[in-house]
Amino acid sequence: MSLQHAVVIGGSSGIGLASARLLLEQGFRVTIAARDEAKLKASADHLSGEIGMIAIDARDPATVKQAFERLGSFDHLVLALGSGHGAGPFATLDMADLLAGFQTKLIPHAATAQAALPFLRPDGSITFVSAVSAQAAMPGTAGLAAVNAGIEAMVRVLAAELKPLRVNGVSPGVIDTPWWDFLPAEQRQAVFQDFAGRTPVGRIGQPDDVAKAVAFMVSNGFMSGHVLTCDGGIHLAA
Ligand SMILES: NC(=O)c1ccc[n+]([C@@H]2O[C@H](COP(=O)([O-])OP(=O)(O)OC[C@H]3O[C@@H](n4cnc5c(N)ncnc54)[C@H](OP(=O)(O)O)[C@@H]3O)[C@@H](O)[C@H]2O)c1
Repeated sequence: MSLQHAVVIGGSSGIGLASARLLLEQGFRVTIAARDEAKLKASADHLSGEIGMIAIDARDPATVKQAFERLGSFDHLVLALGSGHGAGPFATLDMADLLAGFQTKLIPHAATAQAALPFLRPDGSITFVSAVSAQAAMPGTAGLAAVNAGIEAMVRVLAAELKPLRVNGVSPGVIDTPWWDFLPAEQRQAVFQDFAGRTPVGRIGQPDDVAKAVAFMVSNGFMSGHVLTCDGGIHLAA
């Protein structure tokens, strides 16, 4: 029997890489995709199982379409790419940076999901990785909230519109990944410690925590139209 094939965009790092690893362990064939070919190769070298890779920039729908044409049909799409654009206090939020937030997350997620449709198994799945900023009320995240709420708002509509394709989301809290590398190490540790203190489970998340939620959405054929919050409970904190 042939393995189910999952394509993970943003699969060379953090949440996407951990999701790819777990799906491989669960017996999926996995293709990881991201922009930096050397990083993709280095990540793929640390994975075992039926692993492939494609270098794409999800901001360029024509390239994504060509890559899917080369890849052929597949069963599941996981969208785990994004950026930190749009973060920061609202009073000084640069509208150009907010626009970049949409252009580097919401639009590439939507465009890549759209480009994948002709190649996805009709009853396969799409899993978007959004962010809990969409649901929590964390000062300094209005821009991120808007971008990620846009993705979360699409999930239910797409699940109804694209049926029997299953469409879901996973909404992570604060996760220790290279996404945070824009902060110097010492400052990053202080931020992580602060978030850990405010998170009901008493720690920030690891990529594996979110990967388990992603793999659940991919593999459970009865899940559709749902956004699973995987945040240690931080959405409850003021
Ligand atoms: N870490 C957190 O605390 C956290 C919390 C909530 C939500 N999230 C969300 O979770 C998702 C994954 O984040 P992460 O923490 O795993 O970040 P990460 O470690 O920086 O990984 C991001 C991945 O996306 C790829 N990527 C970025 N832009 C791309 C593009 N235009 N086309 C194709 N691939 C692209 C990156 O590779 P290349 O740079 O080589 O392209 C990398 O593989 C993001 O959407 C992020 O907003 C993260």
